[in-house]
Amino acid sequence: MLYKLQRICKLLKEEVAHYDWVGFYFVDKENPKELILGPFEGTPTEHTHIPFGQGICGQVAEDEKTHIVQDVAREENYLSCSIDVKSEIVIPIFKNEKFIGEIDIDSHQIAPFTDEDKKFLEKVTNIVSELL
Ligand code: SME
Repeated sequence: MLYKLQRICKLLKEEVAHYDWVGFYFVDKENPKELILGPFEGTPTEHTHIPFGQGICGQVAEDEKTHIVQDVAREENYLSCSIDVKSEIVIPIFKNEKFIGEIDIDSHQIAPFTDEDKKFLEKVTNIVSELL
């Protein structure tokens, strides 16, 4: 299963020019108010554990909705991984209608994400949910 998720990260990063870091975070079974980093492609991040509410990933964990931040410099509740990152999209993953994790994508461009990205990535999360 982790191998498949790793392949999905690699495919998304390689095939979509504005996806520069692609990774999964999952709800920690030991600590259900925290996210743990899963498979990812791109520069390693120090944010391997993120409490609910913190950063964009933590906000998505709380409201269970897709967040698009077109310019991270304008976002106050943001956890920076690299100065190269300019924007981010985070999509929740549900299993049996329960929030279980998210796909996080960083871009080095300002405002690259469209409604097409949102729709496409929400489909990807549905496929991922079937794999889990
Ligand atoms: N920027 C994220 C943290 C995770 S890294 O992008 C990999 C956030 O604000 O939640």
